[in-house]
Amino acid sequence: MNKAQRILIAGDPHGDFDAVHKAAPADAVIFLGDQMPKGTLTEELGPVLAAKSWFLLGNHDSDAPGFIVGHMGEMWRRNLNGRVVNFDGLRIAGLGGVFRGRVWNPGQGSTPEMLKFRTREDMREHTPKRQHFLEGVPLKHWTSIFPEDFEALVAQGPADVLVCHEAPECHKHGFAAIGDLARALGVKTIVHGHHHVSSIGTIDGGITVYGVGRGGLLRGGVFSGQRPGARGVPGTPVTDA
Ligand SMILES: [Fe+2]
Repeated sequence: MNKAQRILIAGDPHGDFDAVHKAAPADAVIFLGDQMPKGTLTEELGPVLAAKSWFLLGNHDSDAPGFIVGHMGEMWRRNLNGRVVNFDGLRIAGLGGVFRGRVWNPGQGSTPEMLKFRTREDMREHTPKRQHFLEGVPLKHWTSIFPEDFEALVAQGPADVLVCHEAPECHKHGFAAIGDLARALGVKTIVHGHHHVSSIGTIDGGITVYGVGRGGLLRGGVFSGQRPGARGVPGTPVTDA
């Protein structure tokens, strides 16, 4: 088994972690967002699984303060957003959150007037203090994509894989800006969550795109060209079977 196969990627759990608990052992688990832990993420996973898990935040992780707080403490160091992390030679870039027009809607272009805030600090400075969450941006925008996240990733590139919550342009609700980021990073694979249906697509740049469904699992073997499984064809669930 090569290094990529030992990575397990988990699609939007929405508070249900059964699939990950039942999955065959992995060296690392990456959650694509919308974990929505009832307590802390560490409690949901247990100490052994938590110690090898990484995550991105999804839009629903800012639906309640407890979801954000549940990712904090020791676990916060496992937030992949804005980072390229080397998994035993495989460089994985992470982008959490979704695009929101209050910050940046790349669907409308990316000229300066379309960018409301380039950084979280910009937004925090221009937001009344009473709206701040944990002295940062308002709660909702803890799961918004900021241009500074793109800048941080490109500065750390190149990478082999981009994992994100939001989808690129091959999804009908996706964004070309995600594809542009992937091309700037030189990745050959994107894995995203958010849309709750498993899918396989391609975009310019020879990039293969896997959408992982709600509660779905994807083995990292796909990064080295391995088929995701007999049922892993477009439009059908990519499972851990
Ligand atoms: Fe989502």
